[in-house]
Amino acid sequence: MLRLVNLTKTYRTGDRALTDVSLTVEPGQVVGLIGPSGAGKSTLIRCINRLVEPSSGQVFLGDTELTGLGRGALRRSRRRIGMIFQEYALVERLTVMENVLSGRLGYVGFWRSFFRRFPPDAVSTAYRLLDRVGLSDHVDKRADALSGGQRQRVGIARALAQDPDLLLIDEPTASLDPKTSRQIMRLIVEICDESGLPAIINIHDVALAQQFVRRIIGLQAGRVVFDGPPDQLDETVLTTIYGEEDWSATIRTAHDDDAVDPTEQAEGHDERETPAEILDRERMAGLS
Ligand SMILES: Nc1ncnc2c1ncn2[C@@H]1O[C@H](COP(=O)(O)OP(=O)(O)O)[C@@H](O)[C@H]1O
Ligand SMILES: [Mg+2]
Repeated sequence: MLRLVNLTKTYRTGDRALTDVSLTVEPGQVVGLIGPSGAGKSTLIRCINRLVEPSSGQVFLGDTELTGLGRGALRRSRRRIGMIFQEYALVERLTVMENVLSGRLGYVGFWRSFFRRFPPDAVSTAYRLLDRVGLSDHVDKRADALSGGQRQRVGIARALAQDPDLLLIDEPTASLDPKTSRQIMRLIVEICDESGLPAIINIHDVALAQQFVRRIIGLQAGRVVFDGPPDQLDETVLTTIYGEEDWSATIRTAHDDDAVDPTEQAEGHDERETPAEILDRERMAGLS
């Protein structure tokens, strides 16, 4: 279970990105976090694993207060949190299998994983996960030879390879076509259902969120302004979250292939560490 208590983040620039966010996510529950660009969605999920340091408030994962941990303990706790990104963040020159195994890096260490061998149980787990996400036939392909949907499937399998207690997913479908987006959303929700994993999915596509998740949280200027089932997300609520607009075309139209708002794609201010950067950092740590 994940619990946030009065989480607040003000960036050094003075930007207040989150104000007093409190919420609980139960095992197996998938929360769709919606809100316009700049609402604080990415900040919220990055504050949970402290890739962005919260200014105040608390984050609990199970019995552990993540906000109270020192560096070493935080590092160990981060292994319990799987992340999935919009741009997949795969290591391009590595195979699908190697990318998934890199999800185990936190456990086996960089040198062992790259220059010796992964433990056989890690490899069999990776095969099982690749089968689950529908990539059994692509295990030995290089990441750069895959389609967007396949890449995101690798991203999902890699996150699961950590054997996480929580999934944090930032705009998993923003680079995908509408049909592939729905397949990926369905896969994520099914996997969380099966495994009892709690998850937060940042998603700016309201219709897609409504179609696949049973709980939606709406952020507006860093505050939670809606928390409820998708069918309560009516025009009034959407106007609160996104401002005045004609919502008739948006509400429950995930079947429309042009439901994606292209103006929402731009992202700035990246503070998160990609797996490739994590790899580099691990390597440096191993060298020094
Ligand atoms: N590294 C940063 N430094 C300063 N301000 C930031 C940084 N990252 C995000 N912000 C600001 O915080 C607010 C929330 O941003 P973000 O969490 O990226 O929103 P979203 O993911 O919903 O688009 C915005 O006003 C954004 O400009
Ligand atoms: Mg974002």
